[in-house]
Amino acid sequence: MRDGVCVRVRSLVKVYAGTVRAVDGVSTEVLDGEIRAFLGPNGAGKTTLMRVLTTQLKPTAGDAWVMGYHVVLEAAKVRGVIGYVPQEFSVWNDLTGYENLLIYAKLYGVPSDERRRVIEEALEFMGLSEAANRLVRTYSGGMIRRLELAAALMVRPKVLFLDEPTIGLDPRARSLVWSRVLEYREEYGTTVVFNTHYMDEAERYAERVTVMNRGRVIAEGSPGELMKLVGEGVVLQIRVNGDAHAALNALSGLEGVVVVSSENPLKVKLADAQQGIARVLGALLARGVGVEEVVVRNPSLEDVFLKLTGMTIEEAEALGYREAAWVRRAIRRGG
Ligand SMILES: Nc1ncnc2c1ncn2[C@@H]1O[C@H](COP(=O)(O)OP(=O)(O)OP(=O)(O)O)[C@@H](O)[C@H]1O
Ligand SMILES: [Mg+2]
Repeated sequence: MRDGVCVRVRSLVKVYAGTVRAVDGVSTEVLDGEIRAFLGPNGAGKTTLMRVLTTQLKPTAGDAWVMGYHVVLEAAKVRGVIGYVPQEFSVWNDLTGYENLLIYAKLYGVPSDERRRVIEEALEFMGLSEAANRLVRTYSGGMIRRLELAAALMVRPKVLFLDEPTIGLDPRARSLVWSRVLEYREEYGTTVVFNTHYMDEAERYAERVTVMNRGRVIAEGSPGELMKLVGEGVVLQIRVNGDAHAALNALSGLEGVVVVSSENPLKVKLADAQQGIARVLGALLARGVGVEEVVVRNPSLEDVFLKLTGMTIEEAEALGYREAAWVRRAIRRGG
């Protein structure tokens, strides 16, 4: 019996090469029909988790089920209900869009007398009918992503796994990809699980967000619930002229003012916008700190990540790159 849970993950661990704990004890439940984002910097373990859920990797420990099927013990059944668009390129450049889908239709076992119709419908739905007979080499990044989505959706999956669906795309191409995904989901009630390191994408499209860092879940909830972790109020971004330390000194101890980031531009969280802004600017001017730019904005998932990890997502990414480089060096040295 299933109970409205589409994806169940229990204490999942994946260790690579005996040492890299890419997924380090993740538990979560994605409900039927939900749109769930896994958000985190490079190396957080998002792709590894998705590869386990899509049966491409065996977990080191723990369990996971998709639509009630165990990802290791019933892998073929899982594969029968999911669609998956990987992070890396999954279409052939030197074939046309139509030819690419023909390969996937054969792989997925679409009966031969239905293939043409299924492929043409998928191309049409993704807005690629006119480009169907062009080589993929001539496609834009957004068109390629939509072609990969077309391939995944041909078999009408009940659960769609998207690994960084809009990475590297410009805002227009990103929103086009999302409008297609949302329309498909509207029509078929599909559960959508996606990985991203774009805060705004998680905030805008996900009903619930699982924030990951270093293989672990550090927070989970609707964007609104997560935002409450940084409290009510507004965030003030202040670019100061010169030394950020002088500015920090000026702000320390001010009531209702919490410094979220001490790098220039400073980010401070104000409980009360009206009083807080005047108080902060007053304190900076009194200390002779030059203010170059002030931006007032609502708290975002960026502030949540910062609050939970003490790092911005960019800083965590930089750390991830350094660690990845270190692991590669260790592997080259035979470590
Ligand atoms: N095949 C592998 N062998 C060894 N280590 C790996 C392998 N694949 C990934 N890793 C390591 O596992 C950790 C998690 O990687 P993963 O790709 O799952 O993260 P991610 O959140 O998807 O990151 P990104 O944003 O870069 O896609 C990283 O430290 C990575 O270097
Ligand atoms: Mg990844």
